[in-house]
Amino acid sequence: MARVLVTRPLTEGGTDPLLAAGHQIVEPEENPLSPASLVTLAAGCDGIVSHLTDRIDATVLEAGKAGRLRVVANAAVGFDNIDVPSAQRLGITVCNTPGVLDDTTADLAFLLILAATRLASEAERDLREGRWQGWGFGDHLARDVHGATLGLVGYGRIGQAVARRASGFGMEVLHTCRNDTGVNGYVPSLDMLLRSSDVVSLHVPLSESTRHLIGAEQLAVMKPTAVLVNTARGPVVDEDALVDALESRTIFAAGLDVFDGEPSLNPRLLGAPHVTLLPHIGSATIETRTRMARLACQGVCDVLAGRTPPNTVVPTPPPA
Ligand code: GLV
Repeated sequence: MARVLVTRPLTEGGTDPLLAAGHQIVEPEENPLSPASLVTLAAGCDGIVSHLTDRIDATVLEAGKAGRLRVVANAAVGFDNIDVPSAQRLGITVCNTPGVLDDTTADLAFLLILAATRLASEAERDLREGRWQGWGFGDHLARDVHGATLGLVGYGRIGQAVARRASGFGMEVLHTCRNDTGVNGYVPSLDMLLRSSDVVSLHVPLSESTRHLIGAEQLAVMKPTAVLVNTARGPVVDEDALVDALESRTIFAAGLDVFDGEPSLNPRLLGAPHVTLLPHIGSATIETRTRMARLACQGVCDVLAGRTPPNTVVPTPPPA
C-alpha cells in the first residue's frame, strides 16, 4: 500500500481519488508543517499532496528520493514553492491544478477591480467605524469601471477569464504577454500597456523574470487615475514602491490578494491610502477547492499507477 502525505486538510471529498485507489493517507496534526517535519515525512512517503505554503525544496526532495518518493502534487496552480529543477534531476514528478480554478480566480480578480476602483474598502471602513455622516454628494468619490481600459499582464487561462468579465462591464481590454497572441487588444510591451490602461491586473506566474515586474519605474508610467490589481503572486509587485505610489498619488488605488512573504504583511500596506487587501482567497470556494484537491490527488494516483498525469508541470517558463 502506498503512503501519501497530505500536508494540510483538504475539503470534504478532496482525497476521494486516493481513497478509491486504496492508498494510505498520512495527515499530520501539525499545520502548517515545519520544514523539519516535511523532510522527515517526505522520507517515508510515496507521494505528497502539498500546498503553496509548503516549501518543497531540494532538502525535502532528496530526503524523499532517499526513501521512495515519486510524486509531489501541489493543490494550487502556482508551483513557485517547489524546486522543480531539483525534482526533475531526482526524477520526482511534480503536478499542479491548472484549468479548475480559472473562473473562480477571475471572479475574485474582478471583485478587486470593482472594489479598488470604487474605493469600496475605505467606504465600508468609514461606515463601520462611525465616520459616515449620511449621503454626501462629494463623498467617497472613486472612478468608473465601465468604459475604462483594462490592461492584463499575462494572458493565460485566468487572464482570458478576466477579459471575458471585463467585456460584460463595457471595458476595453488590452493584454500583453511574451508572444503575440494574435488576439485583438494585444500590446507588445508592458510599458505601452501600463501607459494605456486605467486598470492593470496581473496574471503571470512568479519566476525570476516576473519578480518585481511592477516596481517604481513601472508605477511611474501608469496614469495617476490608474488602479493596480494583483491576484497572481505577491513578489510580482515591489510593495514598498507600490505604497510610495499610493501615498504620492502616482496611481489612484490598488487591490491585492497576494503578498510578498505572506502571511506577514508589509506594515506600510496596512496604512496606505486607497488599497483593498484580501487574504489570498483567489480560488477559495468550496467547489473549486474540492476540484483542486481531487485533481492533485488524482495526479498522485496516476504517477503511482505508472501513468503520466495530464497536470504534470512542464519545467519550461510558462507564458507571461
Ligand atoms: C493559488 O494561488 C494557486 O496558485 O492556486
